[in-house]
Amino acid sequence: MRQAGRILPEYRNVRASLSGFKELVETPELAAEVTIQPVDLLGVDAAIIFSDILVIPDAMGLPYRMEKGVGPIFDDTIKSVSDIKKLKIADPYSDLKYVTDAISITKKELNGRVPLIGFAGAPWTIFSYMIEGKGSKTFSEARKFLYQEPAAAHDLLGKITDSTIDYLKAQIEAGVDIVQLFDSWAGILPKEQYLEFGLKYLRKICDAINEVPITVFAKGAWFALEEIGKLNCNTIGLDWHTSPEMARRLIGTEKTLQGNLDPCLLYASDEELVKETISMLNKFGGQKHIANLGHGVYPDTNPEKVKLFINTIKEYKF
Ligand code: CP3
Repeated sequence: MRQAGRILPEYRNVRASLSGFKELVETPELAAEVTIQPVDLLGVDAAIIFSDILVIPDAMGLPYRMEKGVGPIFDDTIKSVSDIKKLKIADPYSDLKYVTDAISITKKELNGRVPLIGFAGAPWTIFSYMIEGKGSKTFSEARKFLYQEPAAAHDLLGKITDSTIDYLKAQIEAGVDIVQLFDSWAGILPKEQYLEFGLKYLRKICDAINEVPITVFAKGAWFALEEIGKLNCNTIGLDWHTSPEMARRLIGTEKTLQGNLDPCLLYASDEELVKETISMLNKFGGQKHIANLGHGVYPDTNPEKVKLFINTIKEYKF
């Protein structure tokens, strides 16, 4: 969950010496350095490789840039069937070598201290950025495309899925211990459309990856939790809207659940943060649970609050 990087002054120092976010992502030694920072400075018990979900469209032929204060921008977007034809299936060994190199360096430097998480965006979320060209509250361009060009939408989702499977397998070969799929915009689709254009492709990826455990985080997709619970994956990430009791009821007892403290509780008083963290732990009951936030850390979060969250979890006894 964007576990830490950007809230740490140490991260900002590394970032400030470079031309921008993309240079950091594409420089393996530095990506490895900022990957390990949260382990050393915050005490998290896993590292997540420093990269971005948008490296996949980039490697398929649709480059992004990260604009300060705005977020990701694609100067070209996908508008038609012929735009989709021009895209290639990403070759992780050439187009994304900077990620697998960063993984190899990180694994060596971590030296077994904590596991390393690899990741990719879910096809629906990547599709949304490729059509929309930037972040959006509604992603209505991407949603329009589903109604106007459903066959082309499936073509594009298929290409993203194939690229993602090869990419995750390359990450695993390079040494990641577990992979997570981020479906950040799952929650903007009606259920039937999410099953058709979202879940279908998550299922393909989950079925193709058997080498390491998989975590699926589909933000806002409470309406499809039962179906998500049937994916061939090990862990389901929950956002802060979803009650742990409801998730356990719909998903059953076999899978691990991950989450789901409201990241805004990191702005609350220490007392309230500790109380709500313990309350969250009790709701999951210590059974097959990975304690985490319900989404990423906001950039103006005080690192001391994150440490308090982590230490409260580590010290808690059921
Ligand atoms: O903790 C980590 O450093 C792990 C690496 C990581 C990043 N992005 C680095 C990053 C991961 C796992 C992501 C995933 C990601 N990227 C998602 C899925 C998770 C989610 O948040 O829903 C999405 C949707 C993106 C796309 C993206 N990248 C956006 C929309 C933005 C800008 C807006 C924002 O919230 O800041 C980014 C930039 C980004 N990716 C930053 C980091 C550390 C911030 C860049 C910076 O301030 O230096």
